[in-house]
Amino acid sequence: MWREWPASIVTDNQEQQECAQAKTTIEGSPEGFFRPYPFGLEKKGDGIGKNEVDENKPDLPSKTDFPTTRYYGSKRKQLSWLRNEFASIKGETALDAFGGTGAVSHLLQDLGWHTTYNDVFQFNTISARALFSGATSKFSKFKLVEFLKSIQPQEGFISKTFEGIYFTREENMWLDGCMMSIKNQRNDIRELILFCVFQACLKKRPFNLFHRANLDLRQSTVPVKFGNRSTWNKSFTEHIVATYTEVEFAHQRIKNPVKVIDAGCATSIDTKFDLIYIDPPYFKKAKKNTETYLARYHFLEGLARYDEWGSLIDPTSPQKVILQPFSKEWTNKNDLMDNLRHMFNKHVGSKFVMSYVANEEPTEQELFDLFRINFDRVQLSRRSFTRALSKKQSFEILLIGQ
Ligand SMILES: C[S@@+](CC[C@H](N)C(=O)[O-])C[C@H]1O[C@@H](n2cnc3c(N)ncnc32)[C@H](O)[C@@H]1O
Repeated sequence: MWREWPASIVTDNQEQQECAQAKTTIEGSPEGFFRPYPFGLEKKGDGIGKNEVDENKPDLPSKTDFPTTRYYGSKRKQLSWLRNEFASIKGETALDAFGGTGAVSHLLQDLGWHTTYNDVFQFNTISARALFSGATSKFSKFKLVEFLKSIQPQEGFISKTFEGIYFTREENMWLDGCMMSIKNQRNDIRELILFCVFQACLKKRPFNLFHRANLDLRQSTVPVKFGNRSTWNKSFTEHIVATYTEVEFAHQRIKNPVKVIDAGCATSIDTKFDLIYIDPPYFKKAKKNTETYLARYHFLEGLARYDEWGSLIDPTSPQKVILQPFSKEWTNKNDLMDNLRHMFNKHVGSKFVMSYVANEEPTEQELFDLFRINFDRVQLSRRSFTRALSKKQSFEILLIGQ
């Protein structure tokens, strides 16, 4: 059954009142920032977004114990908003598919959901296991510092393969030495240290990415607008210890266990969940192919698969990226709608919450229509946010289908 909503486009004040009314029906936010679409009505004129009340409202504060991150597409800054929206949804089990940093799993467990985390990449899966394992209680900061002091830089796969690409020769040799020493640690400790190493690698990179072979940029003396030289030039050990401190803080505040499943494609998950949160890669309208997560973070995936890294690399690539067919990442914008349909059909009866960005591809309207076909009740909210590494405001949308 479609739910009918007020049938006219309204002025700001009226709309605020209607949102307040809607809140009593669908338990939306009291802040008036969401605007449920008038279900059953046609989009008119420039339609979506017209007369919305507060697109320029500043970001909600992100009060969270979750470690800081500049991961592309992370929802860490949106957690206050998501917290309000999830609060209206009933159920016990939740899947955080396309989990990335694990920021949303962290929120879901805090709200009391029995949460399962999924991501297609091994480095994200290791990071999530480290974040939700509580391993800092078994491996103190003192032990970490002792471990770091014991590392002997050495010639290895990284120093031989990535000379002059991302890090200096000394840094590459330090990483090789670190990867050799890590092998001797037991699983949960190894994953905790690896998570800290991943974060250190990201912090030392211009743009926090591995999409360009641009060590020379890091080493140049020209003024830069996209990062901070002193952060890039801090040692791995300094960044690793700083990350450990954040993880330790987060561990102390975890209320409920999070199950982290093996790295794999979200579409292949068969287990039933009351709620499935999906946050797939988004695709830019203007570009034929949006840069993939593998292109952005291949170096971290390589660290996570250190022993097999050599066999995964495209030898012709200047960045020494991992070959794309290796992963089941969603990379094709033309497939996104079909992939979503597939997930909805596979998990009939589950409630779905989806994050996406407005004004890209598919459009807000296309996604909204797809939800309307698949669910009895659909709610769409939007907020403006600034992204990491961008001064531009973008509109994030959240669709809830139940
Ligand atoms: C927008 S990000 C998710 C961000 C995450 N919600 C967070 O707060 O950090 C999209 C994620 O989807 C993952 N991904 C891409 N294709 C996937 C697939 N087929 N199955 C599972 N995860 C996938 C990427 O690795 C990336 O971490």
